[in-house]
Amino acid sequence: MSKDASTTRMEKIVSLCKRRGFIFQSSEIYGGINGFWDYGPLGVELKKNLKDFWWRRNVRERDDMEGMDGSIIMNRAVWKASGHEETFSDPMVDCKECKSRNRADQLPEKNGEKYCPQCGSRNLTEPRDFNLMFKSHAGPLESDDNLVYLRPETAQAIFVNFRNVLDTSRQKLPFGIAQIGKAFRNEINPRNYTFRSREFEQMEIEFFCRPEDGLRLTDYWLEERLKFYEDIGIPRSKIKINDIPDGERAFYSKKTYDLEYEFPFGVSELEGIAYRTDYDLSKHIEHSGKPLDYFDEATKEKLVPHVVEPSAGVDRTTLALICEAFDEETVTDEKGSSETRTVLRFHPRMAPIKCAVLPLLKNKPPLVEKAMAVAASLKPFMNVFYDEAGAIGRRYRRQDEAGTPFCVTIDFDTIGENGPEKQDTVTLRHRDSMQQERIAVSELKAYLLERII
Ligand code: GAP
Repeated sequence: MSKDASTTRMEKIVSLCKRRGFIFQSSEIYGGINGFWDYGPLGVELKKNLKDFWWRRNVRERDDMEGMDGSIIMNRAVWKASGHEETFSDPMVDCKECKSRNRADQLPEKNGEKYCPQCGSRNLTEPRDFNLMFKSHAGPLESDDNLVYLRPETAQAIFVNFRNVLDTSRQKLPFGIAQIGKAFRNEINPRNYTFRSREFEQMEIEFFCRPEDGLRLTDYWLEERLKFYEDIGIPRSKIKINDIPDGERAFYSKKTYDLEYEFPFGVSELEGIAYRTDYDLSKHIEHSGKPLDYFDEATKEKLVPHVVEPSAGVDRTTLALICEAFDEETVTDEKGSSETRTVLRFHPRMAPIKCAVLPLLKNKPPLVEKAMAVAASLKPFMNVFYDEAGAIGRRYRRQDEAGTPFCVTIDFDTIGENGPEKQDTVTLRHRDSMQQERIAVSELKAYLLERII
């Protein structure tokens, strides 16, 4: 796709997300705040479906995984031990002309010289390290003694709870601890919509193992994660596996794969799968003085487990789902007039609304009553949208834009006005093909559940 086409596509996606209530700028009525986003009614459902499916696949469907939910603010000692206080920083430069601050490694360059992306000046400071952790204070005093950080990753809450989870779950190596939660980074240049934000969510697994299993399990998790993306509607062909070469990985990592997706703004990271050896647990043993090791009953040996970490971003995956689903096609009606149909082709298991229930006419009480009853019977099992406003064609189009895979129309056949054969059947309309079929109301729930689970 050309650069112009990619830009236009991204602009259309951003506009659709706002128009249909997926994503809003945070604090918009006050001019917004850079790097922060709010999810609207459809966005929150999409994000929830993603997190629920990740949890189901990685925690509930596995016997070797435990879940947890750690606090966002932890003892500052955690971040000293993990190395974040000292080294979690990006190099930044200030522009001496326009005073903007930019990441040194992202400055544009012309004729071998870097320049300010805001004003074009070459009058820049030398790079300086800028720590990305947001600071606050726990308690009424604003002193160094009660300095705290908003966590920049969820992973450390897992490491410091390794012993607690091990003792209470009675797991044996290899096993994992999974967590979904907010993380905060004071990014110098938040950009590409929600892709690089200052507040975001992560879905992280720390999979603990014996040292000799680390490399094999890294490849195992790569495969598991690719399957996961496929099962939410992002095919393998759209994911680039970046096997990070020696010298470019963190010094403690023996293997790291970055999974990258082709966003309209470029191929960019969705998830990292890193074999982190015993680095994290060893650091916490060293700093806390607590025994975070593992006793292997079989070999009667004490060891510090190694860890493989698949770490994915909720917001980045949500954005990838939207980008992957976005489509425009030209449709021609029976009278020969053409229009552009905008459709979000979400996998039904990710779609924010699973089924829209539509009475053919809103001024016919038997149609409305029946439609409301059908909607009510489905609501305990899935997110259903009831809509009686406007022509039926327009209502279908609205659902196409929301990515609703199924629309159910209650018509005169349903209420038995055209004879008993079709009574209590509805029109089921498929979003992608726009094909319609007749289905009995009594079969509807099972039919839909089978396709959205
Ligand atoms: N515990 C390892 C860790 O945090 P990371 O590569 O820094 O590794 C993991 O982050 C994932 O979190 C990324 O692959 C990305 O999906 C997401 N992520 C990181 N920074 C982000 C940001 N500023 N905005 C949105 N998502 C982000």
